Amino acid sequence: MNILILGSGGREHALGWKLKQSKRCGKLFFGPGNGGTASIGENIAIDPETVNTKLVDQIDYFCRHNQVEMVVIGPEDPLAQGLADRLAQPGRYVFGPVKAAARLEGDKAWAKQLMRAASVPTAEARAFSDYDAAVTYIESRETSMVVKASGLAKGKGVSVCDSPAEALEAVKRIMKDREFGAAGDTVVIEEKLLGQELSVLALVDGRNIFVLDPAQDHKQVGEGDKGPNTGGMGAYSPTPLCDDELMTTIQREVLVPVVDALRRDDVVFQGVLYAGMMLTTGGPRVLEFNTRFGDPETQALMMRLRGDLLEIMIATCEGRLDEVDLSWDPRCCCCVVMASGGYPGAYAKGKPIAGLDEAAKLADVQVFHAGTKADKGQVLTAGGRVLNVCALGKDLQEAQRKANAACETIHFEGGFYRHDIGFRVMKA
Ligand code: AMP
Ligand code: GLY
Repeated sequence: MNILILGSGGREHALGWKLKQSKRCGKLFFGPGNGGTASIGENIAIDPETVNTKLVDQIDYFCRHNQVEMVVIGPEDPLAQGLADRLAQPGRYVFGPVKAAARLEGDKAWAKQLMRAASVPTAEARAFSDYDAAVTYIESRETSMVVKASGLAKGKGVSVCDSPAEALEAVKRIMKDREFGAAGDTVVIEEKLLGQELSVLALVDGRNIFVLDPAQDHKQVGEGDKGPNTGGMGAYSPTPLCDDELMTTIQREVLVPVVDALRRDDVVFQGVLYAGMMLTTGGPRVLEFNTRFGDPETQALMMRLRGDLLEIMIATCEGRLDEVDLSWDPRCCCCVVMASGGYPGAYAKGKPIAGLDEAAKLADVQVFHAGTKADKGQVLTAGGRVLNVCALGKDLQEAQRKANAACETIHFEGGFYRHDIGFRVMKA
């Protein structure tokens, strides 16, 4: 089966790497892909960021002429714009939820309403489309608050504010300065929760829910979780934060009610439902939903997944997840993101990357590319998050040590990474 993976990050490289191991995998295409995907498949000039008739026609044409029978949609923006709906046709599998289901990620105000109606534990929140009303509300409060643009903002739309003054500033940036455009027409203002964060990803075939092993992401740029939020600086799986009992609770209190609530409205969720959780002293609470594979959690999960990802994706699309055979390498995987100097602020591009071949020789190590570009036999940096260096180890300590050692072999000007991925659960 020929496969087209849409997207250009480490997630897409890792999904392609795993799909390629399937007996049934034929040709593998990436649109647009990156410098790493070019070495395991063919990159094509299709960028799914903006969904319009031209893009849909381009993908349709490509799939027809290359006998592509599976399209995997990696990122959230095309899903929220309904790309899965528009690509659906007989003889083609599309992995990723339809627009009405992807709204769980793309419209946080609506997702909050749905959670409230389904009694899903989440932070108390209010939504405002009127700037003055948001200001009045913040001025009536004395506590910390979290301010979120309701729409998609490339993971940058959330401000955790320790005072009303900071919250007012965040609302101004979103609603007045329109930093995220129309994604900030509505803001969600919610209580700040305390605790450890947990990423719970589940395959959903409309009816059956198959929960993947738990992971923890590290969003902040600096060691010790200091500094501004990023798209993710590293992740590891499994995490001791979540045992079977907690996973069962999250499945029962979060995933099942949400999938059921959608189905009551005739919305069939097929794809990955990802609950970003905060483990508070009062129990697990949802911070947000994503309707796709998480990045960089997916890189760590693909390293550990035993089973045929293509069969799993087909079963998801066909509503047969109950028949799927899936297990995990018991070892731990630590994924360390190597980023460009300056990220998440401004950074340079086009820096040559050295040492990739040496890193590839290390046992139990895989380097997935994110912001890279292949250029005349060289690999150049092309984004803020450049590489996702993954290593397996018998425990988190060993996995982290191996991932960091692999990072040591790789160099590009200005490059940096966090050495402490997993620190929140590691003994000093
Ligand atoms: P989100 O994109 O909604 O997951 O938010 C990004 C990050 O902001 C999360 O990973 C948390 O670190 C933080 N965050 C979001 N909502 C809250 C909340 N209610 N309380 C505390 N931190 C939050
Ligand atoms: N790892 C967070 C995300 O994919 O949004």
